[in-house]
Amino acid sequence: MNAGITRHGRRSAQPGRRKSAAIVAAGAAHPALMAAVHATTFLPDEAWGTAIFAGHLSMQGTFGFLHEAGGVVLARAAADEAEILTLAVAPEARRRGVARGLLRAAVEAARTRGAATLFLEVSAANSVARALYESEGFAPVGKRRGYYEDGTDALVLALKLSPGANAER
Ligand SMILES: CC(C)(COP(=O)(O)OP(=O)(O)OC[C@H]1O[C@@H](n2cnc3c(N)ncnc32)[C@H](O)[C@@H]1OP(=O)(O)O)[C@@H](O)C(=O)NCCC(=O)NCCS
Repeated sequence: MNAGITRHGRRSAQPGRRKSAAIVAAGAAHPALMAAVHATTFLPDEAWGTAIFAGHLSMQGTFGFLHEAGGVVLARAAADEAEILTLAVAPEARRRGVARGLLRAAVEAARTRGAATLFLEVSAANSVARALYESEGFAPVGKRRGYYEDGTDALVLALKLSPGANAER
């Protein structure tokens, strides 16, 4: 699937302001595309539809990014904490640094919004995502036993966001 944002998304103004050659901030034009990317990655009963993305993006403090190769990240910030809500990269776009780029965009945006800590939940069985998060400095701070339907534990990971750090990434 070609989930290129050029076919669907705006590329100017905010939201839609370019973060890099390939990453744009998510805005009102993007929920359908975000849902399309999600559908390539998650099973139908787990994938978020257009309405879910639209609902999240309409809420204060929620923000996200799209990668033109086919990737999305959604997060929210409140007070001094932020949380990654979802991160997905289309199968054909994987292993090219798409998720790392999106994650770094979310980290930077969370810091800009004044968050001191960025949290996320990941399945203990998701070794791929765990490797990504750990390589970006996330560390385990908790565990939700049997959190997922298959009985797998969820790990709660956190990244401390010091002002100005990560600026050169
Ligand atoms: C997890 C996911 C987002 C990674 O996307 P990606 O664009 O392929 O990741 P990147 O190319 O940016 O890789 C970043 C790091 O992740 C790890 N990684 C990625 N794919 C991997 C694989 N197949 N095996 C082992 N480690 C892997 C590596 O540490 C990699 O760094 P490296 O390339 O320097 O070795 C993607 O596999 C995905 O969408 N998975 C299904 C949804 C999911 O699990 N989302 C996260 C839920 S918390």
